[in-house]
Formats: sequence, C-alpha cells, structure tokens
Amino acid sequence: MSKIPLAGVIGCPVGHSRSPVLHGTWLRDYGIAGHYVPLHVEPGDLAQVLRAMPAMGFVGANVTIPHKEAALALADEVSDIAARIGAANTLSFEGGRSVADNTDGYGFMANLRQNAPDWRADQGAALILGAGGAARAIIVALQDAGAPEIRITNRTRARADALAAEFGLTVVDWDARSQALGDLGLLVNTTSLGMAGQGALEMPLAGLPERALVTDIVYTPLETPLLRDARARGLRVVDGLGMLLHQAAPGFARWFGGKPQVTDALRRAVLGA
Ligand code: ATR
Repeated sequence: MSKIPLAGVIGCPVGHSRSPVLHGTWLRDYGIAGHYVPLHVEPGDLAQVLRAMPAMGFVGANVTIPHKEAALALADEVSDIAARIGAANTLSFEGGRSVADNTDGYGFMANLRQNAPDWRADQGAALILGAGGAARAIIVALQDAGAPEIRITNRTRARADALAAEFGLTVVDWDARSQALGDLGLLVNTTSLGMAGQGALEMPLAGLPERALVTDIVYTPLETPLLRDARARGLRVVDGLGMLLHQAAPGFARWFGGKPQVTDALRRAVLGA
C-alpha cells in the first residue's frame, strides 16, 4: 500500500505560519492526496525530529524561525543556493538522505516577475533595508539576476558591514538612507518595520527615480506605509505576499508533484485564513 505523503512547517513558534493553509489550498485544488501540518519544534529537539520524520511518512518540510541555519547544518546534502544564503527553508527527504534548499530568493524574484514584468534587475542599483536572513536571500537572488550594484543599510551598522564584506555590497549609513536613492532601480524593505504592531519605517522617497520599483517583504498589512507612499508618488509597487506564495511552490512540486500556481484565488485563501 502506498503511503499518503506528509509535509509540514517546522518553527518555534509556528502557530502564525500561513504555510499550512497555502499548501492545503493547493492539495485540495489539485486533488492531491497529502497532508501539510504545522510542527512546533523546540531548538534542542530539531536534530532528533528531522531524523525521525522520514520514518513517519514525511517527504519534506519547510523550516522557519529560528531553525533555518540549524536545518542547513543538519542536512546530508545542501543546494548551492542554500549554501550561499547560509540557511535552509525547504527540506526534502529522499532515499534516506535529507536535502536542504532555500527558495526565499526564488520567491522574491518570482513575485517581482509576476507583478512587475517590465522591471529588470540589471537596469539599476538596488537598496536593501535590513540585514537579517531575508536580506541574505534577496541579495543572492539579485546578484544572480544581474543587479549592477547592491547597497545595504541597517540600523545596526555592523550587520550591514558583515554582509557587505561577504557579498561585495556598498554600505549606506542608516541615517543617510534617504540620500542613496537617486539612481535606484529597486528599493526593498526586509526589516520588520511597517508590520502591524511594529515600529514605523521612516523612509522619505522624494529622491527615487520614476522608474524605481518599491517592494516590501512585510505583508501584514498588505499595503505597508512604504508601499502606500510609493504608490502615492506614482511609483511601481509589489507587495510581499507573493514572495511567501512563490517560495512555497518548489517544495510543493518536489514533495507532492504538479506545478502549483500562484493565483488571486490563492492570495485570497491565504489572506482570509
Ligand atoms: P529576518 O531573518 O526575518 O530578516 P532579523 O534577522 O530579525 O529577521 O532581521 C530583522 C531586520 O529588521 C534587521 O535588519 C533589524 O535591524 P537590526 O539588525 O539593527 O536589528 C531590522 N529592524 C527590526 N526592528 C527595527 C527598528 N526598530 N529599527 C530599524 N531596524 C529594525
């Protein structure tokens, strides 16, 4: 008897994750037999849990805060992109081995391709606000897409300096961030500022060229104050929900099969949850 494949999202906490409803919607829409569950795993238990999962019928898992770096270190095999990013968000259990991948950068680019098809990474410099894990994935994606220059700015300067040294970026002082906009093709917020319940992001946009695209990885609210300001100035904007949806697709295809599509109906299903 063939087993029904299982997958899930491993986090701590994990209750807020939209991944179960996202994968659940695809499973239902495509009539695929499978289950995707939230898995609350304490950091000290991660290694044991990952070893046990294949025997329980799991074909893979997403990994979220705070496990992304540890999951990379524990994998038997690591994709090139996950190694460069230094974190894993997608694990697959195949033939007794665990394979770690990172699809966050792919999700970021796929979201821009879908929602701003005319924008191209090689047409201008990019400025990244923030220097956490999401910034790392986006830096790698933009470099692979041919961004001619990537600037980074972060409240804690040392974290920006470290990323700049590792990836060959230009550092902009946090207090001078509004002066680094003149030739940008892309402005990305990867900080938690602008999220409901978090602090406000102060980012005057007056210096941005008309062609610049503004995007935010924050998607609660969907239209962050940054995106609202940019839209009011007539700039192109892309919200952050699509990154979440697109980063999920490669894992789904690998574990359950099919070609999962990111549609408006999926957006509504995930937002409504
Ligand atoms: P993730 O891995 O999801 O990107 P993270 O590593 O916690 O999360 O990074 C959060 C980012 O938001 C950081 O760049 C952080 O800046 P610091 O490195 O200075 O902490 C940024 N951030 C969070 N709160 C902030 C605030 N009040 N002002 C400015 N930046 C803030």
